Amino acid sequence: MASIDFTPIIPPQAFQYLQVQAGRISKMIDGPGIWRAAYRQQLMDSYEAIKQFIPRPLTSVLDIGGGMGGFDALLNRVHPNLYVAILDGMRSPPNVIERNQPYSNATAAEHFLRENGVHQPVFYDPESLPDDPPKFDLVISLQAWCFHIMPSSYMDFALKSSRPGTVWILDVRIMQRFWASDLFSQARLDPIGEAPGFNDKYTRMAFRVHRQCHRRRLVADRTRRRWPGPDSRPSDWRE
Ligand SMILES: C[S@@+](CC[C@H](N)C(=O)[O-])C[C@H]1O[C@@H](n2cnc3c(N)ncnc32)[C@H](O)[C@@H]1O
Repeated sequence: MASIDFTPIIPPQAFQYLQVQAGRISKMIDGPGIWRAAYRQQLMDSYEAIKQFIPRPLTSVLDIGGGMGGFDALLNRVHPNLYVAILDGMRSPPNVIERNQPYSNATAAEHFLRENGVHQPVFYDPESLPDDPPKFDLVISLQAWCFHIMPSSYMDFALKSSRPGTVWILDVRIMQRFWASDLFSQARLDPIGEAPGFNDKYTRMAFRVHRQCHRRRLVADRTRRRWPGPDSRPSDWRE
């Protein structure tokens, strides 16, 4: 598989959000030009790390906590006409980060995605998720679901959005690694691989949805019961 060369166009409003959502990039303090270069590199490095798990052909992706959708724009470059759906905040101002709450903006993300060649992206409001979403080829969550956001929050929706064979690629917080080994085995996902994260806080895990997973109500209820509760949050929990 060839390497990707992707330089995102970053409109000012998206830049404000990206600095918050992907703000931990080193060299952030050295100015917007260097930040942009580091962000571009981060997207490409992410792709290199997980491209082995991305299903082919890839026609649709659901990005949970996808923020501005930078990685989805990259995926659309590799897989043109990709159907991109993002589940994240719809209206937050860029500088608001509340514990366990989304901090994104669908208007800014839509503009960003269109500028980068994604046509008609779809946005899901966490407050009103549809009961019968489309089935996606890929469900992805980078530094969001299973990192800041508890698995139980979107397990049901992710399962509803999957068919047998759908791949999930998730950044799982290492201190909560049991989220993957326990909850995901309950949800009948087959592990297909793992790649190291860019720091020691998380690992990138890939799963394929198993056929039996479609008993989704039962599975979701079971996973909810197994969630150990907020006391198990790690000390550097941010939201
Ligand atoms: C660290 S950012 C990562 C953004 C994007 N995945 C990336 O890699 O650039 C975490 C994202 O999770 C979103 N988020 C936080 N809590 C959420 C929740 N409860 N529901 C949905 N999204 C949430 C935030 O709005 C933010 O966009």
